[in-house]
Parts: sequence; structure tokens; C-alpha cells
Amino acid sequence: MNILGISAGFHDAAATVISPSGEILFAGHSERYSKKKNDPDFCQGLLDDVLEHGPDVVAYYERPWLKQLRQWYAGQGIEWNKFTVQQILKKQLGGQIEPERVYNYNHHLCHAAAGFQTSPYQIATVVVIDAVGEWDTVTIWGAMYDKNYRAKYKKLWSQSYPHSIGLFYSAITQRIGLHPLDEEYITMGMAGWGTPQWTEVMRDVLIEDDSTKIRFKSNLHTGLDSEFLGCASNEDIAASAQKLTEYLIHQVMTRARNFGWSNNLVYMGGVALNCLANRRLGEYFDNIWIMPCPGDAGSSLGAAALAHGRRVHWTGASLGHNIPGAYPVESAVAALLSDRIVGVASGRAEFGPRALGNRSLLADPRGSDIKDQVNSIKRRQKFRPFAPVILEELADQYFIMPRCWSDSRYMQVVAHCRFPEQYPAIIHVDGTSRVQTVPQDGSGIRKLLEAWYAKTGCPMLLNTSLNIRGEPMVNDRADADRFEQLYGIKVHS
Ligand SMILES: [Fe+2]
Repeated sequence: MNILGISAGFHDAAATVISPSGEILFAGHSERYSKKKNDPDFCQGLLDDVLEHGPDVVAYYERPWLKQLRQWYAGQGIEWNKFTVQQILKKQLGGQIEPERVYNYNHHLCHAAAGFQTSPYQIATVVVIDAVGEWDTVTIWGAMYDKNYRAKYKKLWSQSYPHSIGLFYSAITQRIGLHPLDEEYITMGMAGWGTPQWTEVMRDVLIEDDSTKIRFKSNLHTGLDSEFLGCASNEDIAASAQKLTEYLIHQVMTRARNFGWSNNLVYMGGVALNCLANRRLGEYFDNIWIMPCPGDAGSSLGAAALAHGRRVHWTGASLGHNIPGAYPVESAVAALLSDRIVGVASGRAEFGPRALGNRSLLADPRGSDIKDQVNSIKRRQKFRPFAPVILEELADQYFIMPRCWSDSRYMQVVAHCRFPEQYPAIIHVDGTSRVQTVPQDGSGIRKLLEAWYAKTGCPMLLNTSLNIRGEPMVNDRADADRFEQLYGIKVHS
């Protein structure tokens, strides 16, 4: 029986279907179909792709009544139409799926399972850091497979709402004029432009204790006063918050390592997307796995994995809607050689927030003007960086990769480029690059990089998501056609 995992009803609705043998048949985000960024609800396009796999079992990514209890405690009231899984599924699936069985699991356990059951490890220490689940905000788990190959989880430590590293970062995001629970990645990019001179002040004003538990003096779920650090620039606030966040993550990771459960780290939750902080993870563990969709959307996979019970066969992030046809290697390289910028929309859409080559805008990273050219298409804030995608075996020659990050296949860590003056388009103001390495896996993006390298001697490309401004990533060929019409950049399929 195929299992459908669902994360929906809050933000960034997503679905994952797993077969009885543990294959991931599909994983996708609702926003890519509905064109509403972070769409909290299922849409028909996503349902259509899910229905192709005829799921018989449904697993939901959290326990609604526990969450409602916390929301009542926080003064947010109770939504009676979201009190049970059955109510939520009726609203989200519109009666189009009638499962034989329905399960639901704790929010942080779903994060843990999405990470551990896709990881290559038999045993791992699992750390989950997000804004908030039902009540948990940070959890540390010991995970392993038993003699029957079933995944087992032991909760070693937890921290509860409202004391939350994720909510702190979201409050800072709101304080500097961005959208919380959406634009934290922009806060991270802005941090590179500031100096962390307010870190100690921030810590003194906001944090009561960071030794036994991380305890904030107030509930940051309600945001920060607009006068908070009123004399500081947004850039310095972002830099200071980033440094404080890295310190708090250090506290958690040190605690996790000291349990002595395993030197393999599985790291999940929205905070695991902080690729600046991730460069330090090798200080605590010898091996690191972060599933490329570590936030709540990824918990659709976690819920399905828990219902499956065993390891899930992870083959990469290309799990979403399919644009059929061979990857356009030759035509894309020809366009890069002539125009220096090309769009690619081919194969299955990436699961997770990063475009990894199947829904990408690619560009020649050499030269001083290419960044402005890409920015003129993306029309996003000029302070934000662009990422490089590079042949994995050459990553060390071009980047100083942090410990335990000899590969970074899902753009999850930053590294310093050894030749920043040659590749200015992919260097952030702080000298870092969010590196994506591509192994010899026969994928389309790998073949494209090989062909590009053979023609130019340059082993990397600039890689940014293919999306129309204000919209989620391109999903199908119709989206790609609209992109072409709006920006005059050909999108190859
Ligand atoms: Fe979460």
C-alpha cells in the first residue's frame, strides 16, 4: 500500500508518496502548482500528481489537538475546524482520497524521521531546531534501526515553546522589515553586510539563560518592538542575530554530541537551512546529513517514513512534477557560450527550497557584470548572493570546504572561494559562497557542467532558482513559457 505523507494547514503545504518497498514515488510543494508562495493548503495540481500513485494510507505531520492547545496557551485561540486530523484531511484533500488508514505523529518526530530515514546511517544523533512544533522548539534524539530494520527513536532532550531559536530569528526578520517564517534567508544574506557589534547587547536583553536550557526573557512569537535596537542599522541587527544564533546552535550541538549516542549527525528543522551556521557542524560531529527539505514541507516525507517504519531509499531531491525529455545539455551550453545566461526546466522539480539544476537559471560566473545581469532578471535585492554549482571532485581546488563538507550536494553550507577575483558573481560580500557540488551521478546538471568545463576550463556555473518575480519556482512547461515571455531568456527543456 502506498503511503501519502502530508504537511499542510499552516504554511508551505507539501505531499510525499512512499511505496511499500520504501521508494519515494513523489514529493512536491503546493506553492509550485498554485503559484501562491508558501501556500498553506493543498491545491488541485498537487493532488493530481499525488493521485497518480493512488495512496491507501495517509500520515499527517503533527498532532492538531496538541498544537491547538499551545495556540490557546499563546492567546491565538482555537480553530475548531482544525482540531482533528480527519477535519484537516477533509479540508485539504476535498474527499478525493479515502484512505484505509490514517496516522499522525508528533511534529518534531516527523522532522527527525525525514532526516534519519533518508540518511545513509544505521545510527545517528538527530537534532531538530525550528520555530515551534506542537510545543517542542528544539529536540535531540538517538536514532537507530533495530534487528528487524525498523527505525527507533529515543528522545534525549527537548526544549519547549516559547523558548525558540527559530522564533528568535523570525522576530529579527520581522524587526528588519522582512516577512517572518518566509524571508529568514534574506536576513542571513543581509548579515554579511553588517558587523555583529550588537550581539552581546542582544543576548543580555533577550536571553535569560543559555546553559541548562535556552530561555528567552519574553515570548518572541509576538515579535520584537520596532524600537528594539532602534539606533542600529538593519545590516548590523542581522549580523548580530546571526552570530547569536550560531552561538545558540553551538550550545545545542555541544549538548547533542555530549550524549555520546553517535558521531553521525542528522540535522533537521527550518534552522538547518542556515548555511552560514552549518559550516561549524564539523566541530561537533564526524558525518553530517541534512535532508534538502528540512523544514515543515519535508515533514510530509517524515510522516510517510514513520508510517513505513523502515529506511527510505533516498536517490536525490528530484522528486516533484516532471517535465519529460532529455536534459538539454548541448543547447544550454551553446546558450551559455553565446549569451552567458540560460534557463533550464527539465525533469522532476526539486523537493526543498533550492533549485539544484532542474529548475535553474544558470550563468557564467566569470566577469564583473554577470551578477547585475542576473539581478536585472530576478529583480531582487542587490545585496543578496548567488550560488555556485561545481563538479564535486574539483570543489576542494576552488573552495575551502569546511570540515565534514567535502560535498555539499544540496547547497547547505558556505565556503570561501580560493579565487574570488576570478568568480565575482558567486562571491558574497563576506567572501563566502553557498556551494552546490555535483557528483558523478549521470544527472543532467552533471553532464551540463562536464560539457561546460570541457569547452571553457571553468568547472562551475552560477545557479539560482528559475522563478518569475514574486512567484514560487517554475513547475511545469507553461511556467517556463511565461518566464521566457516576461524576461526574454530562453528556458530549455
Ligand atoms: Fe517544524
